[in-house]
Amino acid sequence: MPAPLGHKIAMAKASANYVCAACSNATTKWAGRCEACGAWNTISEEAPLSKAGPAKKSLGGRGRAVPLTDLSSTEPAPPRVASGLSELDRVLGGGLVPSSAILVGGDPGIGKSTLLLQGAAMFARAGLKVIYASGEEASAQVRMRAQRLGLADAPVKLAAETNLRDILTTLEQERPDLVIIDSIQTMWSDNVESAPGSVSQVRAAAHELTSFAKRSGMSVILVGHVTKDGQIAGPRVVEHMVDTVLYFEGERGHQFRILRAVKNRFGPADEIGVFEMTGAGLAEVTNPSALFLSERGQPSPGSVVFAGIEGTRPVLCELQALVAPSPHSQPRRTVVGWDGGRLAMILAVLEARCGIPFAGLDVYLNVAGGMKISEPAADLAVAAALLSAREDVALPPETVVFGEISLSGALRPVSQTENRLKEAQKLGFTSAIAPSGGKAGAATGMKLQQMGDLTAFVGDLFGAG
Ligand code: TYD
Ligand code: MG
Repeated sequence: MPAPLGHKIAMAKASANYVCAACSNATTKWAGRCEACGAWNTISEEAPLSKAGPAKKSLGGRGRAVPLTDLSSTEPAPPRVASGLSELDRVLGGGLVPSSAILVGGDPGIGKSTLLLQGAAMFARAGLKVIYASGEEASAQVRMRAQRLGLADAPVKLAAETNLRDILTTLEQERPDLVIIDSIQTMWSDNVESAPGSVSQVRAAAHELTSFAKRSGMSVILVGHVTKDGQIAGPRVVEHMVDTVLYFEGERGHQFRILRAVKNRFGPADEIGVFEMTGAGLAEVTNPSALFLSERGQPSPGSVVFAGIEGTRPVLCELQALVAPSPHSQPRRTVVGWDGGRLAMILAVLEARCGIPFAGLDVYLNVAGGMKISEPAADLAVAAALLSAREDVALPPETVVFGEISLSGALRPVSQTENRLKEAQKLGFTSAIAPSGGKAGAATGMKLQQMGDLTAFVGDLFGAG
């Protein structure tokens, strides 16, 4: 009996009017803790979707036939516009693509408004018509910031507004090339009953703005605040609606800021742009390796330089490990800038394949400078840092390390060996420890020590194994 069943499902959907802000799971009753993702205090009441937007109207009646096109096209790709802020252009995949939708997420206070005001000014100077709509600051505040950044003369149009309908009408009239919405959480649509910042408001506002962008050829940049557990409110919905998702990250107490592409329909994901927050706004860092290594002192136990690849370019950074006898029955495993699960795996491989136990020892691992690394190629550098800390032996100076470790303890070659070596050489390193198989290519001045498995590595460096 399919009909009643379908009816039941439809009923359940229409009456589900509590939504979790973290995972967007819908339920029919309020709860302190979300059943789906386990987050606390994230559930709030929402107007049911079917009543919320124009969807209800458009579903009735007959549709119109949409024009179909071929896969092959003779139209040239629309030109990208570069802002001249090269770290921003790099993360966008080489500049702004017309009629694209971009989400920039990040913690409050990290510098999103500063970055986008600078971006707006640069795009405007490059000839685009740019509107910067702020729902958080008054125009006077934005103007003051522009003055401080030395951008007061840039032809950017400001709007201090949170009403989505008014913003859309303005865009309709003004027809800009780029609009920046700071932030999507402050925008409010009178179509939707729930409060600004709620999942359905964020979803409705993002939907209206991105579809306007697609229709009109305008590009839109949405600023999104990340909630304390690291997610943009209504994250899944907004991330799926846009072409590009960028995260602006940084550590408190560090001046470095990293703009990272986590999704990009128009360029490589995982590309990073590096900035430094100064008194006069964000300054570009064109040589991130030099910056990340600038705080490195004398070679010391536990410190290892990893030759990594971020997006399309090599980036060197320092890994620091500390291993100490634990006073706890459950020793601590603390990681900053890398994956905790991956650390556990490497500890297990060291124990099982090389006979080096970490039981009873606290382990701390830190990526210096506030970088976050996700490449498995950092495995060997992590293992080197752990061993170096545990044995209290510093690695030979001027050495970089990279390579992936498999569960068997074998070392797997990683991509772009040559680029990693070239970057290391450029920064004054003379040798590298890497898995067998990678080719040094043109980086001929580098002494390349290649090893097939972790046991060989341990024996070679620490005379144990
Ligand atoms: P902001 O761009 O307002 O952050 P967000 O929009 O992500 O909330 O940046 C706020 C911080 O940046 C604030 O702590 C002051 C600092 N800042 C500078 O250090 N230099 C500057 O030139 C500017 C404009 C801000
Ligand atoms: Mg802001």
